[in-house]
Amino acid sequence: MKRIAIIGAGFMGSGIAQVCAQADYSVTLVDIAEDRLEFARNAIAWSLNKLENKEQLDAPSKVVADRIQTSTEYEVVGDADLIIEAVYENRDTKLNAIRALDTLCRSDAIIGSNTSTIPITQLAAASQHPERVIGIHFFGPVPLMRLVEITPAPTTSQTVIDTVMAFGRAVGKNPVLVKKDIPGFLMNRIFGAMTCEAIRLVEDGVGSIEDIDQGMCDGFNFRVGPLCIADLAGLDIALNAFQVMHDLDPSRMPAPPALLARMVAEGKLGAKSGEGFYRWEKNGRRLSPAF
Ligand SMILES: NC(=O)c1ccc[n+]([C@@H]2O[C@H](COP(=O)([O-])OP(=O)(O)OC[C@H]3O[C@@H](n4cnc5c(N)ncnc54)[C@H](O)[C@@H]3O)[C@@H](O)[C@H]2O)c1
Repeated sequence: MKRIAIIGAGFMGSGIAQVCAQADYSVTLVDIAEDRLEFARNAIAWSLNKLENKEQLDAPSKVVADRIQTSTEYEVVGDADLIIEAVYENRDTKLNAIRALDTLCRSDAIIGSNTSTIPITQLAAASQHPERVIGIHFFGPVPLMRLVEITPAPTTSQTVIDTVMAFGRAVGKNPVLVKKDIPGFLMNRIFGAMTCEAIRLVEDGVGSIEDIDQGMCDGFNFRVGPLCIADLAGLDIALNAFQVMHDLDPSRMPAPPALLARMVAEGKLGAKSGEGFYRWEKNGRRLSPAF
C-alpha cells in the first residue's frame, strides 16, 4: 500500500493522517469544511515540529507534512489503496460516507472506519463489497497512543484483515484483533465497565474521586485512574459510548450512571470544559477533584 485517504480532518482524522505521513505513506486528507482542513494542517505542523525538536522524526518535518494533500472533494479517493473514514460519530453520516466512497474508490481498495460505537457489520452492509470494510479504531491523540483495534465484520476477507494488521504495525502501533464485532470492541468495553462502576461508587458515597483514581494507580499500576481518563476523553463522549454499548447489549453492559448524565447535562464535560470529576486549567493541567 502506498496511498491512503482519510475522510474527516478532525481530532482523529488529522492524527491518523499525521502518523501515516510519518510512516512515508502518501496521504490525502478530506473534509467537507475547508476551515477544518486548515486547522488540521496547522495542528499537524505544530505536532511534527515538536517531534522534530525531540529528534523523533525520520525526515524533516516539512518533508513529512508535504506528504499530506488536503481536499474537500471525495473524488480524490480514486487512487487510494486504503481509505479510513473518521467523520462524526453519527450512523447516517458514516453510512452515507461509506456509500459515496464505495462508488468512487478502486474496486480493490480497502475501506476502514474509525468508529468507536457503530457496528462494523452495519457499515460493511452499506458497501457493494462488504469484504473490503473493516474497523480501524485508533486512540487519541493518535501520534501518542500505541493502540489500534482492528475489527473485521463477518464478511471481511482474510486478506483485508492481514493487510490492515500490517498497516497498523507500519504506522508504529500495536494492532489488537477484535475477533467478534461487538459494541465497544475490546477496550471501550473494559473501560466502560470499570468507569461506570467507579462513578457509581462515587455516587453512592463509597469512595472519593481522588482515592478511587489513586487506588487504581497504586493497586493496579495504572498511570492515571479511570475518572481522570474519563475527564480527558470528555464526559459527553464517554456517556454516549456507554449509552450505545448499553442499548446494543443491555444484558452485559449496564446503563450509564445517573451522576454522569447529570454532569453532562450541567455542561461539566471534563478537561475541555474546565470541570468534570476534577477541575482543569486551560492548558490541560489537572487541579483538585471537583467534589
Ligand atoms: N475523539 C476521540 O478520542 C476518538 C477516539 C477514537 C475514535 N473516535 C472516532 O473518530 C471519529 C471522529 O472523531 P473526532 O473526535 O475526530 O471528531 P471531530 O468532530 O473532531 O471531527 C470530525 C470531522 O469530520 C468532518 N466531517 C463531518 N461529516 C463529514 C463528511 N460527511 N465527510 C467528510 N468530513 C466530514 C467534520 O467537518 C470534522 O472535521 C468518530 O467516529 C469518533 O467516534 C474518536
